[in-house]
Amino acid sequence: MVQRRSWLAAWLALAACAFPVRGQTPEEIWREFVEWGQKRPRENPARKSMMDLYVEDLVGRGASEEEARRRWKVIAYEMRPRSRENNQFFWDTLFRLRSGPDHPLKLLVEVVKDLKPGRALDVAMGNGRNAAFLASAGWQVVGYDISPEAVALARQRAESLGVRYEAVECDHRQFDYGRERWDLIVFSYIVADEPDMQEVFGERLWNSLRPGGRMVCEGNFCEKLIRRLVPLDLPGFRLERYSDAEELREDWGSGATKGRVIRAIVRKDP
Ligand SMILES: C[S@@+](CC[C@H](N)C(=O)[O-])C[C@H]1O[C@@H](n2cnc3c(N)ncnc32)[C@H](O)[C@@H]1O
Repeated sequence: MVQRRSWLAAWLALAACAFPVRGQTPEEIWREFVEWGQKRPRENPARKSMMDLYVEDLVGRGASEEEARRRWKVIAYEMRPRSRENNQFFWDTLFRLRSGPDHPLKLLVEVVKDLKPGRALDVAMGNGRNAAFLASAGWQVVGYDISPEAVALARQRAESLGVRYEAVECDHRQFDYGRERWDLIVFSYIVADEPDMQEVFGERLWNSLRPGGRMVCEGNFCEKLIRRLVPLDLPGFRLERYSDAEELREDWGSGATKGRVIRAIVRKDP
């Protein structure tokens, strides 16, 4: 009897130490992520993606890789979009950890080499990698982003490279797109929720593009964008390129993972 009790005590102690697997609510998983994000030091010399850092830390604390990845999905796809605060915290943490690439989007480099520089808008500009590239190629650039960390990095980048562009801290719905204002609008791995799609990325976006201007898009958002614009039957709308393929995601994330890469180029005929 004594022996059975001590075995039971040992088992209970082990169970208490083991990483809590199922049973946590999405809100609890998010709260843990917030704590993790607040505590994790900025250092990230290998420039790993935030997902890789998070999964690695959880596995180091005893979680299985499968459980760590399940939690990441809850954080990134279920809890992040739940509120503006969550969304902002997520991206602020990512940029605080210096995640996200520094090189410009290859598609953008390829497209602008044949274009005459004009006015460009970098939607959800992140750390300014694309704005800096465009500015150094002679474009007059404005970018905006919801994350103060991202905007601060974008401004630092302009300063350290000695280029000029405007970096505005605001969200999609707050930004004034104007009318026939942009020769080029860049969507590089942006995210947008359904109200953004309805309010911003239909006529408002289209009216802000100059005749002869182009929109360059890469990432999952492009599918939503094209689905939103096509039924509007917009005058001058021309889909110059659309592709959706499984390939190495070199322009966002760790660069080592294969995934769906969607690209779109839209022109507004003069
Ligand atoms: C995957 S990152 C891409 C950043 C940048 N375009 C690039 O390619 O490096 C997504 C960006 O969207 C921004 N973002 C998320 N929700 C936003 C919103 N509602 N309004 C404006 N920016 C937003 C994030 O802060 C983040 O910088």
